[in-house]
Amino acid sequence: MRAMRPAAALGARISLRELDVTDIDDAVAIVGDDEVTQWLSFDARDSYETAAMIQGVMERAALSPRTEYYLAVTPSTSIQMIGFARLGLEGVKAANLGYSIRHADWGKGYATDAARTMTTFGFEVLGLHRIAATIGPDNNASIAVVEKLGFTYEGCIRDHVFTNGAWRDSLLFSVLECEWKLANHLLAEPGGDTGPRPEAP
Ligand SMILES: CC(C)(COP(=O)(O)OP(=O)(O)OC[C@H]1O[C@@H](n2cnc3c(N)ncnc32)[C@H](O)[C@@H]1OP(=O)(O)O)[C@@H](O)C(=O)NCCC(=O)NCCS
Repeated sequence: MRAMRPAAALGARISLRELDVTDIDDAVAIVGDDEVTQWLSFDARDSYETAAMIQGVMERAALSPRTEYYLAVTPSTSIQMIGFARLGLEGVKAANLGYSIRHADWGKGYATDAARTMTTFGFEVLGLHRIAATIGPDNNASIAVVEKLGFTYEGCIRDHVFTNGAWRDSLLFSVLECEWKLANHLLAEPGGDTGPRPEAP
């Protein structure tokens, strides 16, 4: 499997790029917000915790082999980070997908485009075979994102994460490389919307 560094990809309305220390303030607006973290597996982080988180992301990005692509989501027209998209490589040619968008920008299609762009990056650039997403049962916005992208529901992982002081189930969704390519092929017919191809890093 190829390792890409620095990684970057273009979507229809967002771009993905590597994180750096200048992103800390924008990151606090995401992972420091309870509206966002209530759906994640950790509590809201202050600026020190967020700086440590970004430092960790940067260190892991430099590892060989690379096991994580934790990228900043920016609108196409700006370099300001408004969210994260992550592929955590796990197992054989497999990865877990995650994403977050700052609360002020929910409902604009950014997560759908970021998840689509990251999934295409995973299959076409990294050569993955399977991409999975685990989502809280009440997280209807995130479920809508993977369903729009054609992920298949596989089942419920019981007591999967401990968050907000309690165990929580996750719903497991996945998409395989052949399904993704087939769907994009079909959508590439006249009138279809394939979404853009990733930019080679
Ligand atoms: C989940 C999240 C990333 C979605 O971001 P977003 O940019 O608002 O998502 P999009 O605009 O691309 O699409 C959201 C879809 O969910 C739908 N949606 C939003 N809230 C919903 C709700 N309560 N019930 C059902 N659908 C909902 C929207 O209508 C939209 O679908 P549509 O395009 O068919 O109308 C964002 O809410 C977030 O950051 N949440 C906190 C972190 C998180 O949950 N991350 C995922 C962990 S698995």
